[in-house]
Amino acid sequence: MLQPLPLQWTPTRLTLECVDIETETHDVKSFHLRVLPDAAGEVPLCLHRPGQFLTLRLRHGEVLVPRSYTIASPPSRPMLLTLTVKRDPNGLVSRYMHDVLRIGDRLAAQGPGGSFDLFSVAPRRHIVMLSGGSGITPMMAMLRYLQDRRETGYRVTFLHSARSPADLLFQGELTAIAARGGMTPRFICERDALPGMEAGFLTRDLLQAHVPDLHDCTVLTCGPAPYMRAVRAMLAEAGFDMAHYHEESFGDPAQRRNPDGATPERLRPDGLDEAVAAPSPQADRQPEAEGEHLIRFTLSDKTATYRPGETILDVASREGIAVPTNCQMGLCGTCKAHCSAGQVAMDDTEGLAPGELEQGMVLTCCGRPQGAVSIAL
Ligand SMILES: Cc1cc2nc3c(=O)[nH]c(=O)nc-3n(C[C@H](O)[C@H](O)[C@H](O)COP(=O)(O)OP(=O)(O)OC[C@H]3O[C@@H](n4cnc5c(N)ncnc54)[C@H](O)[C@@H]3O)c2cc1C
Ligand code: FES
Repeated sequence: MLQPLPLQWTPTRLTLECVDIETETHDVKSFHLRVLPDAAGEVPLCLHRPGQFLTLRLRHGEVLVPRSYTIASPPSRPMLLTLTVKRDPNGLVSRYMHDVLRIGDRLAAQGPGGSFDLFSVAPRRHIVMLSGGSGITPMMAMLRYLQDRRETGYRVTFLHSARSPADLLFQGELTAIAARGGMTPRFICERDALPGMEAGFLTRDLLQAHVPDLHDCTVLTCGPAPYMRAVRAMLAEAGFDMAHYHEESFGDPAQRRNPDGATPERLRPDGLDEAVAAPSPQADRQPEAEGEHLIRFTLSDKTATYRPGETILDVASREGIAVPTNCQMGLCGTCKAHCSAGQVAMDDTEGLAPGELEQGMVLTCCGRPQGAVSIAL
């Protein structure tokens, strides 16, 4: 059994300073970030669960532009956080990180979040990690943690897919970890595979060739949506028990609404010099009329009507209330907020951590009010 962390890191707002930037490939960089003291002068240790993510809070004018990134560093190295970011040539925040952020600059963030982590997954003794492209980041956090803690009771088979050898991430580090034992990496390249690599795509035959005891393993997957679909299909064909399958989605940018005219150069870290908005004295009051289609946004001190079927996010956006979002499909937890009165029906609750539902947290991107509700936004 994995030893639990001695302390848990409670999700919070963080101010980070970029202390180093490492080039990993032609379009991927790792950003090493120091956590700066909070308002009470305390510096929190980064005791996230390995595999969890942070959400960067950038602002374009009045509009919040949040993006989540896996904390690729493990909690066994609690003094620095590392985010490994792939530059999307048309992306807003990844270009900000690559093209604008410099050593010494500060970032605003919130987290950690997510339940695709080693402790929540509680893996079996043989872990199969399947990653595509930048989907390698949560696997690296988990693997680095297993290595740092010398968790020798676990064995890892790591199959990482990339477009070409030039796109392979952490090849040197994975090879070095493998030399110490307990982990077998295999690199799969769509094109130009070098000797010793697999050419093409991950297939069921390839998976079963490298993992003959597949049915005794825990399978972890992260990568582009088509990659994860293909993995699910091959596991289904192989008759794998999906209770031992876990995946992380990086979301669908097509669901995203970037502010008009936004460019990476015009983004600013959110609220670094502002006090965090305190709830108004009205914050927890009941909505005026039960049963009506009303949402009371307690932190913004606004009340709005909604049409049946609308999400809280739809209504908040219409009211000009900025809600941090990422996946917008109930998976990542970025958009969660507290519901202090009324009922909310959610399409998915994956993005909530165990116990949060009972505490009244709701996912605003897929949460639809049922009658009058009060939401802490
Ligand atoms: C839990 C989680 C963890 C993640 N971890 C990592 C990580 O470790 N490393 C990493 O690199 N990424 C990670 N991501 C992805 C990351 O959050 C961003 O989605 C990614 O960096 C792209 O953001 P961007 O602002 O650069 O691009 P965006 O501005 O969001 O644009 C992305 C792409 O979508 C296109 N697009 C934008 N709007 C539309 C539209 N309306 N219709 C069609 N296309 C559109 C753009 O042209 C662009 O190509 C993670 C995501 C999640 C949810
Ligand atoms: S934005 Fe990801 S759960 Fe709502």
